Parts: sequence; C-alpha cells; structure tokens
Amino acid sequence: MPHKIVSKRQLSEDVFTAEIEAPLVAQARKPGQFVIISINNEYSERIPLTIANADPKRGTICLIWQRAGKTTTELADMQQGDEIANVTGPLGMPTHIDNFGTVVCVGGGIGNAPLLPIAKALKKAGNKIISILGAKSKELLILEDDFSQISDELIITTDDGSYGRKALVTEPLKEVCLRSEKPDQIFVIGPAIMMKFCCEVTKQFSIPTQVSLNTIMVDGTGMCGGCRVEFDGRAKFVCVDGPEFDGHKVDFDLMMKRLNAYKEQEQQAREQYKKHRCKIGRDK
Ligand code: FAD
Ligand code: FES
Ligand code: MG
Repeated sequence: MPHKIVSKRQLSEDVFTAEIEAPLVAQARKPGQFVIISINNEYSERIPLTIANADPKRGTICLIWQRAGKTTTELADMQQGDEIANVTGPLGMPTHIDNFGTVVCVGGGIGNAPLLPIAKALKKAGNKIISILGAKSKELLILEDDFSQISDELIITTDDGSYGRKALVTEPLKEVCLRSEKPDQIFVIGPAIMMKFCCEVTKQFSIPTQVSLNTIMVDGTGMCGGCRVEFDGRAKFVCVDGPEFDGHKVDFDLMMKRLNAYKEQEQQAREQYKKHRCKIGRDK
C-alpha cells in the first residue's frame, strides 16, 4: 500500500520533516521505535528512520531525516502528495519509560529527532528533564523549541560557538554528572563517536546510560545480520534487540568500522543520483 506525504517542510539546510499516511503504524507505535521505508518499489534501498511523532486520529506518522546520501536525498526531493511505496513498522523495542527521577537527554545533530519522542514520554512519566543539545553550528541545530517546552533545563552547545556554548556535549554532561544532585538516568542519541565519548563520561560516575544505535539495516527483522553489534562480548541485532542498549556495554569501535563498510558503493549511488537530479533540474 503506498503512503502519501501529507505535508513536508525543511528544518535546516539538510534536515527535513514530513507527515506520512501510515494508519496502522500510527496506532501501534511507541517511543523509540522506527520504520523501514523503500521509496519507489520493493527494489529500492531500504532505510530505517525513527518515528518522531504519530497522530493515530489522522493516521499519520512524522519522520525527520538528514540528507546524508542517495536515499535520504531522494526522500528530500519528494513533495506533498507524492507517495512512498513501503513503510514497514513499527520496528524495534520501545524505550523503557519510567519515573527515574532526574534524566539527562543528550542529542547530537539529527539525533535530536529520535531523542524527542523519548524525552516527551520521560517528561510525561514525571521525570525532571535536563536536555543537552549539540550541533556543529547554529544553522544545524534542530528542534530547540520542542525541547525547551519539555525540559526543566536546556543546554545548547555548538562546535563553532555560533550559538549557545562553544563546546562538545561531553563538557556540560560531565558538569551535570558532578552536581550534588547526580542524574539518575542518561539517554544519548547522536553520531556513534559522540555516544562513545558520552558513555566514557557517564561510566566514570556509574550513571546508567541508554544509547540508540544507528547501524546499517536491511530487513529489520533479525534475519540479515546487517545491524549486528557486539554488546557485553556477545552479538546482538539492533533491529530486534534494540535500537536502545546500555551504552557502557557497546563496542563502539567495531560498530563504527561496520558503519563504513559500504562507503564506496554509497558514494557511487550518490554520484549517480546527483547526475539524475541535474537532468531533471534539481542541481543543488
Ligand atoms: P548513504 O550514502 O547510503 O549512507 C550514509 C551513511 O548512512 C552510511 O555511511 C551509513 O553509516 C548509514 N547508512 C547507509 N545505509 C543505511 C541503512 N540501510 N541503514 C542504516 N544506516 C545506513 N537518520 C535520520 O536522518 N533520521 C532518523 O530518524 C533516523 N533514524 C534511524 C533509526 C535507526 C534505528 C537507524 C539504524 C538509523 C536511523 N537513521 C536516521 C540513519 C539513516 O537510516 C541513514 O542516514 C540512511 O540510511 C542513509 O541513507 P542514504 O542512502 O541517504 O545515505
Ligand atoms: Fe537485518 Fe537487523 S537489519 S538483522
Ligand atoms: Mg544509501
């Protein structure tokens, strides 16, 4: 069944959001879950995207994505009224939401999108929310308003100092961990390298830390092995066992190596699609 794009908007230079018809997914989804989409037909590349929000009454889900390569660019080129061939989900284990006490939510770049539904659910469950959002620069920061509505404290960092504090997210994270009122739980979503270093900080303070892993996925059902990670010395599949894991037990170095496995093919696909875009007059 095709899935119509009900609305679409650009959030920053490379980040887009769309409301997409997917009534069954909208009914069933829980924070932390994702869909796998294929744009044109069953032969299109399958990519996982987190369900950022859902409206069961309207029968729609909201996706937020960053233009990274061929498929996310193709999705960004689609317009309101266009149809996505397949939207499979909800996939993955929902986030464990509880009243932990004080929770720090750390988001980096596009990681703010999957973090938002989790932070909202944690707030609803009665937690005090301290959000730390990091971006390379001011233009690349997304969802600041949404986080300010649900956060008891909001700390912004940028790599270049163009907005908020000039720092990496690990700096304020360490300061928050050093406070007399130590956080009870931490959630981190962002690039693998950022999650790795955040976990190194929180491990020193023995604060439980959940990360959401963004491994390469194909089937999303535990069959292909594409999303395999090493967790506590054992193999786990992010699509069915995750995407969230205790970050102190993840082998991030191996995960980062596996994320780079198809760089050459991704580059080729990107260049081919760029040529196609030029032909149809979308040359940016
Ligand atoms: P490519 O040029 O093909 O790849 C760019 C990089 O993205 C690769 O180097 C690789 O690291 C990664 N990647 C490539 N193919 C896949 C794949 N099939 N599955 C996963 N990663 C891949 N991104 C968002 O912008 N918003 C989200 O909400 C979001 N949620 C995600 C949820 C989960 C559970 C996972 C695993 C990933 C999520 N991602 C999200 C990442 C997104 O899936 C990739 O950016 C996308 O697949 C890149 O596809 P591409 O063809 O545009 O880029
Ligand atoms: Fe195939 Fe997880 S995506 S096993
Ligand atoms: Mg791709």
